[in-house]
Amino acid sequence: MKTRVLGNGLEVSALGLGCMGMSWAYGPSDRDQCLSLLRQAVDLGVTFFDTAEVYGPFTNEELVGEALAPVRDRVVIATKFGFKLGEPGSLSGVNSRPKHIREVTEASLKRLRTDRIDLLYQHRVDPEVPIEDVAGTVGDLIQEGKVLHFGLSEAGAQTIRRAHATQPVTALQSEYSLWTRDPEAEILPVLEELGIGFVPYSPLGRGFLTGALKNEDDLTEDDFRRRTQPRFNGEARKQNLRTVDALAEVAKDRGVTPAQLALAWLLAQKPWIAPIPGTRHLDRLQENIAAADITLTPADLKVIKDTIAETGFAGARYGEASLAMTNL
Ligand SMILES: NC(=O)c1ccc[n+]([C@@H]2O[C@H](COP(=O)([O-])OP(=O)(O)OC[C@H]3O[C@@H](n4cnc5c(N)ncnc54)[C@H](OP(=O)(O)O)[C@@H]3O)[C@@H](O)[C@H]2O)c1
Repeated sequence: MKTRVLGNGLEVSALGLGCMGMSWAYGPSDRDQCLSLLRQAVDLGVTFFDTAEVYGPFTNEELVGEALAPVRDRVVIATKFGFKLGEPGSLSGVNSRPKHIREVTEASLKRLRTDRIDLLYQHRVDPEVPIEDVAGTVGDLIQEGKVLHFGLSEAGAQTIRRAHATQPVTALQSEYSLWTRDPEAEILPVLEELGIGFVPYSPLGRGFLTGALKNEDDLTEDDFRRRTQPRFNGEARKQNLRTVDALAEVAKDRGVTPAQLALAWLLAQKPWIAPIPGTRHLDRLQENIAAADITLTPADLKVIKDTIAETGFAGARYGEASLAMTNL
C-alpha cells in the first residue's frame, strides 16, 4: 500500500486499521476472527494499527499484541493513555498525571508484547494536568526508548502548540470525516504550520457513511452508537440517511463504494493525513484499503461538497459529557 509521513518522519500505510471495534463499543466480536484479520491486514500492506488502554478495557491491546508479535518490526503500533478507569473497568473521567502515564505505559508495553510503543497518544486532555507536564513525561519515556513518538487526541489548538513546544508532536488523532468537519477551521492549519501529521478517527462515520447502517436494528442494544450518539438517532438519523443516500449515488457514478469515497475524500484533503478505518471483516478491509489507490479530482471534490450542502448532516457526534472532553 502507499505510505504517508506524519510528523517527525513517522511513515505509515496511507490507511491504517482501527482496532477498537474488535473488542469494544460496537457489539459482539469473534476474537479468533479478529486475530486472523489483523495478520491478514499486515499481508495486505497495512502497517499502522490503532488501539488504546481503554478499549475493552485492556483486551484490545492484548489482542493487537498477540496478533502483531510475530511481525513486530514491520508495523507501527499506536496506543493511548489518559482515561480513569473505575470498577469494573468502567470509564470515570480522565487522568494524565505523570505517575499514571508511566504506569499505563508499562502495562501497555506488557499487553502489547513489545519493548516500545511507536506512537503514544494522550487520549483526552486532562484539565487538571498542565499539558507541558504530560509532554515532558512522554518526552522522558522517549528518552528511555519505551516510546518512539508523542501524539494527542481531540486536543484544541492552544494545547497542541503548548505540547509541541515541550515535546515535538508527531500526530493528532481526532474525529474527521465527511460528516465531522470540526478540525477544518482551526486545527488543520495549526498542524500544517507545525508539521504535525493528522490521523482521522471514525473516518467512516462509525460505519454510517458506508450506508450499511440504514435500520436502527442494524445496531445491537449494547452498541455504543445506539445509546449515546445523537446523530444515529431520531430525526437527525433520517436526515443523515438522505445525505448518505445522495453520496452513494456520487460514489456509484465514480465507480467506487460509499466507504471508498469517504476514505479517498479524507486522503485528498492533505498529504499528511492517514485515516484509520475500523472493521472486523476481511472483505471490508480489502474494500477500504483499495481507497488508497483512488484519486479524487477537484471536480469530484466539488460534487461531494455540493451534495452534502444540499441535504446536510444533523445531530451531535457525541452526547454532552463526551463532547465536553474534546477541543480543550
Ligand atoms: N481517539 C479517539 O478518541 C477515538 C475514538 C473513536 C475511534 N478511534 C479509533 O479510530 C478507529 C476507527 O474508528 P471507528 O471504528 O470508530 O469508526 P469507522 O472506522 O468510521 O467505522 C467503523 C464501523 O464501520 C464498519 N465498516 C468498516 N468498513 C466498512 C465497509 N467497507 N462497509 C460497511 N461497513 C464498514 C465497521 O463494522 P465491522 O467492524 O462490523 O466491519 C464498524 O462498525 C477505531 O477503531 C479506534 O482505533 C479513536
